Amino acid sequence: MDFIYKKPVISLSGSFFSNTNLIKAYAKVVKKIKNKLEFICIVTGGGEIARKYISLAKELGLSRKKQDEMGIAITRVNALLFGMLFNFTEIPKTYEQAVEIINKYKFCICGGMVPKQSTDKVAVDIAVMCNADIMINLTKVEGVYNKDPKKPGAKLLRSLTYKQLREILKNTSQTPGNYPLFDLKAIKIAEKNSLPIIIANGTKPENLIKILKGEKIGTFISF
Ligand code: UTP
Repeated sequence: MDFIYKKPVISLSGSFFSNTNLIKAYAKVVKKIKNKLEFICIVTGGGEIARKYISLAKELGLSRKKQDEMGIAITRVNALLFGMLFNFTEIPKTYEQAVEIINKYKFCICGGMVPKQSTDKVAVDIAVMCNADIMINLTKVEGVYNKDPKKPGAKLLRSLTYKQLREILKNTSQTPGNYPLFDLKAIKIAEKNSLPIIIANGTKPENLIKILKGEKIGTFISF
């Protein structure tokens, strides 16, 4: 089966960077598909290590902007590590550089960009700038649930409108090191630019191939 999405921007949860086998498996999957796509961009999150540095910065009395800068630095370390598996160490530090790298290599790996957002927002921004056909958020859970997935009776929602997702997220925290599920700002940008989002379980790297081939995995967010 052919890929139905050929211009994906993917946000990879920082939590995956504590699992060597998972990172190895992602490198293998990306190597396998990258030349069959028009381009692929992978944005790496910061995970526990980012949170550790953010709370250290907070305890030391540093500003929220500086806490975010610590988070960004760690997301870039993860990007560099992942890039090294491809001998690809040109990690962009600005959106403009990211777009240039995508245009040049049809491939890009990056971390965070500017304070007050998460790497999900970076992925949506780059997707809009490069006219991507999908933004895929690969995370630790199966997708978006109607309530806390740890609670009994929680049901996986297969499709949502941007508005419904905004409603679900409206009372969640959106602070340094803490953007549970998704970044609210990113949803607004995706909606404004008609960019579909898929939130899916990334602990199974083969899901990425299945999603690109159009299998219905996780939660699909659109109008
Ligand atoms: P993440 O995107 O990893 O945040 O960025 P997250 O959602 O809290 O964590 P995981 O990886 O999904 O578990 C880590 C932190 O870096 C800062 C934010 O403070 C964010 O919480 N950051 C990241 C920015 O300020 N700007 C960016 O562009 C990216």
